[in-house]
Amino acid sequence: MSTDHASSEASLDVLLTPADLRAGLETDARAGLSATPKWLPPKYFYDDRGSKLFEDITRLPEYYQTRTEHAILVASSDSIAEVADAEALLELGSGSSEKTRMLLNAMTRSGGLSAYVPVDVSAGALEDAMTGLRRDYPDLDLHGAVADFDHHLDQLPAPGRRLIALLGGTLGNYPPEQRRVFLANLAAAMRPGETFLLGIDLVKDPSRLMTAYDDAAGVTAEFNRNVITVLNRELDGDLDPGDFEHIALWDAENEWIEMRLRARRPISACLSALDLKVTFDEGEQLRTEISAKFRRERIEPELVAAGLHPERWWTDPAGDFALLLARR
Ligand code: SAH
Ligand code: AVI
Repeated sequence: MSTDHASSEASLDVLLTPADLRAGLETDARAGLSATPKWLPPKYFYDDRGSKLFEDITRLPEYYQTRTEHAILVASSDSIAEVADAEALLELGSGSSEKTRMLLNAMTRSGGLSAYVPVDVSAGALEDAMTGLRRDYPDLDLHGAVADFDHHLDQLPAPGRRLIALLGGTLGNYPPEQRRVFLANLAAAMRPGETFLLGIDLVKDPSRLMTAYDDAAGVTAEFNRNVITVLNRELDGDLDPGDFEHIALWDAENEWIEMRLRARRPISACLSALDLKVTFDEGEQLRTEISAKFRRERIEPELVAAGLHPERWWTDPAGDFALLLARR
């Protein structure tokens, strides 16, 4: 896409093609479904249906994260814009870009913003978001990128000094070692003076956390089972999503939620594109996501170790969620 509107620009770079995404899924599915215990990385949840299910999750009464982060952004976006002093906002895992509008508005008010770079692995979610942004922010340069932040951090657009945002608690979806590698790669891709805005979910009463990942309407269960549909479609599989029960559990030692899929019966299936037979014993579990919850005293040293220096911390009155700004 490349269109002219007044004096602003809109472009969409594709650093990750559908074939690249499928090749990644082939590697990860072969490794994860052959392992004991079985696992899959969470990025494959987000096909068009998965992205829409995630948006439904953000509106659930049990899922406090999105509206809490939104409230922090309403209260604090002007301070964030002032401290960051950036010319461009680049957002990793931007999804619908809905909450980001608070930041775009504040950065526009402060006079410095010239471009927004939404980055997501989900081309459908990104295109939908860009259509709405194009309509509502006609004067802003929009440089979207379909990309994987596990691979493309050093290839992303830099149309000026950037504030790089990773909102929604998405950092928590990395296990600790992958999180360390991600933060190190991010810092290496940033220029001195650029800033990182990180949205993190905080440790709290486990029963509230469990409910947030096992809602009464069963939307999170559908989101979780959607990865089975993705496997079937992309890898020519014959798994039945209905054979899997959604499980959310709190790992108190690691302070993270785990989502798993538990086989309701013995399963014998095939992913024909991989020529891979996949079997589950009854009750066997596939780990589909971790969602780590943070404490300030734990995350700040991780950022410092990566070369990112925390400058400000904003939270809601109940201390459920936090935004942290760090500078390279
Ligand atoms: N930032 C939004 C969306 C969070 S959901 C919010 O706060 O509501 C996580 C988003 O990250 C999804 O849109 C998903 O497609 C994207 N994502 C997950 N893994 C990714 C990866 N490795 N590279 C790029 N985007 C990724
Ligand atoms: C995107 N990510 C931060 C969400 C989370 O809460 O870990 C994904 C999600 N999984 C289940 N519900 C929402």
